[in-house]
Amino acid sequence: MTERETWATRLGFILAAVGSAVGLGNIWQFPFKTGTNGGAAFVFVYLLAALLIGLPAILGEFVVGRRANINAVEAFERLKHPAWTVVGALGLLTGLWILSYYSVVGGWVIRYIFGSATGAYFGDAAGYFASVSAGWEAIGLHAVFMAVTAGIVAFGVEDGIEKATKLMVPSIVVMLVGLAIYAFTLDGSTAAYSYYLSPDFEYLANNLGSVVPFAVSQAFFSLSLGMGAMITYASYLGDDDSLPADGSLVVVLNTAVGLLAGLVVIPLLFVQFGGVPDAAAGGGAGALFVSVAQVFADLGTAGQALGAVFFAVVLIAALSSAISLLEVVTSYVVDNYGYSRPATAFGFAGSLFVLGTLAAWNTAWLTWFDTLAYSVLLPLSVLLGVVFVGWVYGPQAVDEIKKGTSGGETFATAWLWSIRTYVLVGVFVTLYLGVTDIYA
Ligand code: PHE
Ligand code: NA
Repeated sequence: MTERETWATRLGFILAAVGSAVGLGNIWQFPFKTGTNGGAAFVFVYLLAALLIGLPAILGEFVVGRRANINAVEAFERLKHPAWTVVGALGLLTGLWILSYYSVVGGWVIRYIFGSATGAYFGDAAGYFASVSAGWEAIGLHAVFMAVTAGIVAFGVEDGIEKATKLMVPSIVVMLVGLAIYAFTLDGSTAAYSYYLSPDFEYLANNLGSVVPFAVSQAFFSLSLGMGAMITYASYLGDDDSLPADGSLVVVLNTAVGLLAGLVVIPLLFVQFGGVPDAAAGGGAGALFVSVAQVFADLGTAGQALGAVFFAVVLIAALSSAISLLEVVTSYVVDNYGYSRPATAFGFAGSLFVLGTLAAWNTAWLTWFDTLAYSVLLPLSVLLGVVFVGWVYGPQAVDEIKKGTSGGETFATAWLWSIRTYVLVGVFVTLYLGVTDIYA
């Protein structure tokens, strides 16, 4: 057997993990979920969840991946028993489900690159979103996004994407900071900051049952947890790397990009609508598109170029995430069943395209796909992973956390106890609330 590849540099791993993490979850979803779930109350729960649950959970996935040194399904067999491969399989399924509608939104982004360049939405940003986000055009764009994703996974041209990812995070940050400052200078944005940054705890208390599952699952989605992605990437990791250091970096960068996107979208919505409008008026899935589209429209000709560049960078972020979703299943199937890589990648992409046409046809369907992922699939998948790494694999995981980390003993022990106790309870409560919210 040949020795398995490892990342050439620590930076290679970080870039891949950050490339997977930073995506539509941060730029598109986080701002609008904040808007539909009470503003700062949601942000508050999200931040707690990212730090107190997301970080321990991502370390758990790193442990499984590096320790097993194999794909995200067989990892569980190698570490314990074939029965546990069901955890990996659920992760794969969750990832596939999510990719089916992630691609629809990726299609919107493609549309907006061209729509910006030609100024197509400059007259009526909200109306434009309504017309391109659902129906035949959205299906066509969804096909394009899925085909590009499959093409990259099939032909292994990750090189290009890796280079793009290196530039993607800095350029996203620069553009979001620029837009956030611009929004700050506009009349009418002031009220947005208290809405976004000062939590209304009464709202939170009255809406715990929906805010908590959405905010905690948002952290999972955003950190690419519960879908085998982080397990897969960590499986190529060498032993001298510090998992806690890498995990913290991914959590911090990912959270920062989400917060920045909120600092752009929420103030812009306040400027344009005097608050966060309801979903139909542009406060839901359309929030990112409608709010920043209006900025580019106001900038006239310069806005055409800036808008095209902005959405091109968002597309790179979306693609680097979508690739990691498709790569997990593709590499598993190629390794185990010996199918060709192109056939496997396009086979999955084709099937997911068909499934996703529902979400592309009608945004109500898209919301339903998303709700099922958030309320059930993600928390269930993360819960099983946490039970596995904390209680089933347990003490050996501590050794893995310690490796390459100075003074890692105390941290690793604290990590294990957090995973075994409050993290487990927190994820369980999230799942419980999510499921009951769906049936409410
Ligand atoms: N974390 C990505 C985002 O925020 C989505 C994703 C989830 C990508 C799981 C890969 C795996 O957009
Ligand atoms: Na993310």
